[in-house]
Amino acid sequence: MDYFTASPKPANLDRQVTLARAFIQQHAEQHRRVALVTSGGTTVPLENQTVRFIDNFSAGTRGATSAEYFLQSGYAVIFLHRQFSLLPYSRHYSHSTNCFLDFMTHNDAGAVVIESEYQQQMAKVLDQYRKAKRENTLLLLPFVTVNDYLWLLRELAIQMQPLEANGLFYLAAAVSDFFVPAARMVEHKIQSSEDYHQDVTNGDGDRPPAAHMEDKRLIIDLDPVPKFLKQLVDTWAPRSMIISFKLETDPSLLAKKAKGALQKYSHHLVIGNLLNTRKWEVLFVAADGSERWIRVPLGRRTRSVTGKDGDTIENAEPREPSIEIESWIVPEVAQMHTEVISKGKVEMQRH
Ligand code: PMT
Repeated sequence: MDYFTASPKPANLDRQVTLARAFIQQHAEQHRRVALVTSGGTTVPLENQTVRFIDNFSAGTRGATSAEYFLQSGYAVIFLHRQFSLLPYSRHYSHSTNCFLDFMTHNDAGAVVIESEYQQQMAKVLDQYRKAKRENTLLLLPFVTVNDYLWLLRELAIQMQPLEANGLFYLAAAVSDFFVPAARMVEHKIQSSEDYHQDVTNGDGDRPPAAHMEDKRLIIDLDPVPKFLKQLVDTWAPRSMIISFKLETDPSLLAKKAKGALQKYSHHLVIGNLLNTRKWEVLFVAADGSERWIRVPLGRRTRSVTGKDGDTIENAEPREPSIEIESWIVPEVAQMHTEVISKGKVEMQRH
């Protein structure tokens, strides 16, 4: 059965699509490019009334940072992100690494103020944030589960079709490859204790529920998530530029896997990255088969939060201000997008 027939539509989908439709219409009328930036990890619930779920490492740094540089490059951005992951602008002052309280103090009169050394940087971020709000160029749409993500991706892609080549997909989210199909999901919390009889009737006939207890062990038997990139490229967004990411941990696989994805899906660009070095180096693999590394030099690298850093500023403070690799990635992508748009125009004139 088709995934969307077999999987429940998220309760807030219609509301999110309504917001997106108005946003896209505004920017289509203004002939502005629109980037759909996906960001953060998807969860895989094990129960309908979810107590337990499978998650992944993604903090949303790539997506949130890239979104800012897209806005700086004149794009409107639909930021499809994991709820409570990093957000454009607020990321500078959020979560435990950049806790906003660390940037504040209070004066003798008790008024809370920003510490003087952070004023300039914060004023810059604040101005950019306010500009995005004033011009309505940033739409934040959250997801939690892999199912939320897939429904949203499909609906947003369809909504973006009127943008034609001005639409760009920048798929930085870490989407789960495996999930529990609705037909094999138990309703209630899985009981670890033998004292309670667990209703395990919600299997799909031949198979038991995807997550269940067996001899005091929790058995999890997940189905593969269908590969939607093909559908995105061929059917949902055939006129848009599409950029996917490829994450690996084994350096010897990265280029091969990135090229394989391009061959399989025939989109425009794969940006490869390795878990431990993703904050300062990425591999561009383009549709013509060309490969190029982009690397931030040692001493200009930003601190990695989740990766194992080795030679970032955890060991050595940079002498010069650090460079966010997304400040190099996004302008390159925007330049490639310009080429895709003009190629599309030439082809249109030919027909
Ligand atoms: O968030 P950070 O901590 O900054 O980390 C950033 C990142 C490492 C998560 C990011 O740079 C990255 O590499 N994201 C893609 C991870 C990956 O390997 O994805 P994949 O191979 O499962 O999928 C390939 C591409 O298709 C990805 O662009 C993915 O977003 C997209 N995809 C995959 C499956 C699916 N069902 N829908 C999708 O859109």
